[in-house]
Amino acid sequence: MRKLTTSLAAVAAISALALSGCGRAEETPGGGEAAAGFEEGSAIGVALPQKTSENWVLAEGLFNDGLAEAGYEPDVQFANGGVSEQQNQISSMITNGVEVLIVGAIDGAQLGTQLQQAKDAGITVIAYDRLLTNTENVDYYVAYDNFQVGELQGQALLDGMAEQGEGPYNIELFAGSPDDANAQVFFDGAMSVLQPEIEAGNLNVVSGQTEFNQAVTQGWEAGNAQTRMDTLLSGNYSDTELHGVLSPNDTLARAILTSVKAAGKDLPVVTGQDSEVESVKSIMAGEQYSTINKDTRALVDHAIGMVEGLAAGEELEVNDTESYDNGVKVVPAYLLEPQIVTQENAADAYANDPTLSELTK
Ligand code: BGC
Repeated sequence: MRKLTTSLAAVAAISALALSGCGRAEETPGGGEAAAGFEEGSAIGVALPQKTSENWVLAEGLFNDGLAEAGYEPDVQFANGGVSEQQNQISSMITNGVEVLIVGAIDGAQLGTQLQQAKDAGITVIAYDRLLTNTENVDYYVAYDNFQVGELQGQALLDGMAEQGEGPYNIELFAGSPDDANAQVFFDGAMSVLQPEIEAGNLNVVSGQTEFNQAVTQGWEAGNAQTRMDTLLSGNYSDTELHGVLSPNDTLARAILTSVKAAGKDLPVVTGQDSEVESVKSIMAGEQYSTINKDTRALVDHAIGMVEGLAAGEELEVNDTESYDNGVKVVPAYLLEPQIVTQENAADAYANDPTLSELTK
């Protein structure tokens, strides 16, 4: 069970009693909306983006199994064809009568029309992992703390390079896809750690490409990161050492390492995120330096717990009501804590993950 404060629990109990069995959101005397709850067996829509990293693939199975076990009818869809496919999928979910929409957006700013339709139909919208922007029609956000992910990556880059030798260090910076609201937050978190070191002269971004817009990787695609790394290496490092690369996730980290290997250079310290199988292997082999543990099981579990709370007509617990301004409103968020993983703590970090713990033995 989620923790509820006494007053929230009381509100929840009253709402559940007053409204159980009836339709969706109802107007309260004050003009606001109270959650109406809904029945077991209701359809729940889960719109996922492209399979740009393993966490999304894991989420698909976990949502299907977890929602079914909790007594709901899951409709989980990937939008490998892009934004318009995701828009169409969400519209169909609404037409099919889902009670809750859980959305991992490809482009969080491109779903305004569909989210308005959802709102009009009284559907609760939960942004999952990625924020939905430029809309008032998003009720909650559930994710790992993205800024903290960036801070951990920035710190890991510094720690990894310090283990190799004395600075100043030559580095390059990579960011994720600009249509994913997370990408900027990851980058800002990392730069909050790295920028002071750049200013102090301890870090040198040899290419000079220090802006988010210069560092982005469209579509989170490995090929794009590899091509950019090839260009950075040939243009700036023919007789210069490269000590570290900030990579926002594991897929891109491996692409960056592939590029460096092809150029025949010594491997720099490279960060990552997601605890993908191939990256955990790479970390254990001493190539990629770090990743982030954002256990998808815990995130999906929390999202399903939110669905259960909504079904019971409860007000949901959030732990952040400040950080996620989507351009129209500050979205109430429940943030989980990410964990940095290097070779040193991998066995501990993955102790309760049967797949990953095998790799650390
Ligand atoms: C997720 C990351 C993932 C990336 C690419 C982001 O929104 O938070 O975990 O690596 O998307 O799929």
